[in-house]
Amino acid sequence: MVASVSPPYTNADWMLGYQSLHTEGEYWIEATDGSIPPNLTGTLFRNGPGQLDINGHRYGHPFDGDGMISAFTFKEGRIHYLNRFVRTPEFIAEQKAQKILYRGVFGTMKPGGWLANIFDLNFKNPANTHIIYHGGKLLALWEAARPYRMDPLTLETLGTETFNGSLAKGQSFTAHPKFDPNTGDLKAFGVQTGPSSKLSLFSITPQGQFSETTYTIPGFAFLHDFVWMPNYSLFFQNPVSFNPLPPLLGLKTAGEALQLDPNAPTRIIGCHQSGQFFTIEADPGFIFHFANGYEDPRGHLIVDLIAYDTFPPLGTGDYREVDFASVPPGKLIRYSLDPEHNTVSRQVLLDDRSVEFPVVHPSKVGGAHRYIYMATIHAPGPNAPLQGLLKFDTVTGSYETYSFAPIGYVNEPIVVPVPGSTEEDDVWVLMVVFDAKQQRSFLAIFEGSGITQGPIATAYLEHHIPYGLHGMFTPEVFRSFG
Ligand code: CO
Repeated sequence: MVASVSPPYTNADWMLGYQSLHTEGEYWIEATDGSIPPNLTGTLFRNGPGQLDINGHRYGHPFDGDGMISAFTFKEGRIHYLNRFVRTPEFIAEQKAQKILYRGVFGTMKPGGWLANIFDLNFKNPANTHIIYHGGKLLALWEAARPYRMDPLTLETLGTETFNGSLAKGQSFTAHPKFDPNTGDLKAFGVQTGPSSKLSLFSITPQGQFSETTYTIPGFAFLHDFVWMPNYSLFFQNPVSFNPLPPLLGLKTAGEALQLDPNAPTRIIGCHQSGQFFTIEADPGFIFHFANGYEDPRGHLIVDLIAYDTFPPLGTGDYREVDFASVPPGKLIRYSLDPEHNTVSRQVLLDDRSVEFPVVHPSKVGGAHRYIYMATIHAPGPNAPLQGLLKFDTVTGSYETYSFAPIGYVNEPIVVPVPGSTEEDDVWVLMVVFDAKQQRSFLAIFEGSGITQGPIATAYLEHHIPYGLHGMFTPEVFRSFG
């Protein structure tokens, strides 16, 4: 167990991780502790809001921040770091003007009050949510628009990705695609929402062959993530309503107009690969992220996810002055669906501490997994900032943790299989941690079978990386190591 640290965090320290990083650079990381595994070979790409202000004018919400890609290249025990912003047309225009020109979906209004924002639905694409490498393409993702393609060596922005014209202008593309571990195909979706929603499922082979299946589902659909398994894709339609009038009139941001109806059920939509779909109603709740899902031998669909009892409201105040203890905690929940009888059961796996960013071994995606790795708060108790790594064992129901409190604040863990390994937890877990004392970030490398021992190696950056969102590891190395 973790020794108690008192206090494990301060809001002032946590807030420091939301300072913009305005610079781009590249260098070999020289300051390291421990031993970096010589057989850890490949590139870790991460995305997140790198700039949270322009010229001192803060965006209203970090989800509106400018997407910045970090690339950590690992080879022969050395690590190279490179960061670049995604140069969308909106980013280029705002950098030139040095002021906020666009509305952000989540919290940013243009200066000038409602008159400047009325009827302006020209939202900025911050390209800040995820970065994936597939079929030779590096793609920066933001769920309400098409991906941006980047050069995997230089991180130069190459332009909008349409998959040979398959994605029309205005088509959304999820920031949470999955990789089929058996075929290498990329599984993704896009949603066009209104009184009913058009849900498009995309499958893209590593060679770039694109196929699409569409479903028309009732109601407004706010779908951030999904569950992919070979026969089904599952969506949890949160009981969220959207009143488009205030944002249209410039009175509210689109994010503020989202409301959770605490009495309405969550609707689970199961899209069978045949093109048919079923819906099952479940208890209300709000879900951003799924760990994984699979079909068990009975044909039941098992889904592990992080759920909140209520939707965290997007207020109008400064997002950094949050009272953590009043924010609903993220709980690890297992749903079991029986598509034949349209029934669902729900089991709480972990609720003594808030967790987020759940991931499993990449070869287990869509199949039965045992371990889930997550970011966690320091210790059991009320909600708090994410400061540690947690490994949950779904077979025993037990978990192990390591905490970086009181100085460290963590990002999403990334699971990297050890080459030639056969055990599910014979992995490295990579975590970017913000050190509030030094005001810089470091990369921690854990062994999956020894989380409580702490990182086996740590690589210290020369600066901080603002709190990020998602990323992935590829065994490919794009840089030459002389
Ligand atoms: Co996400």
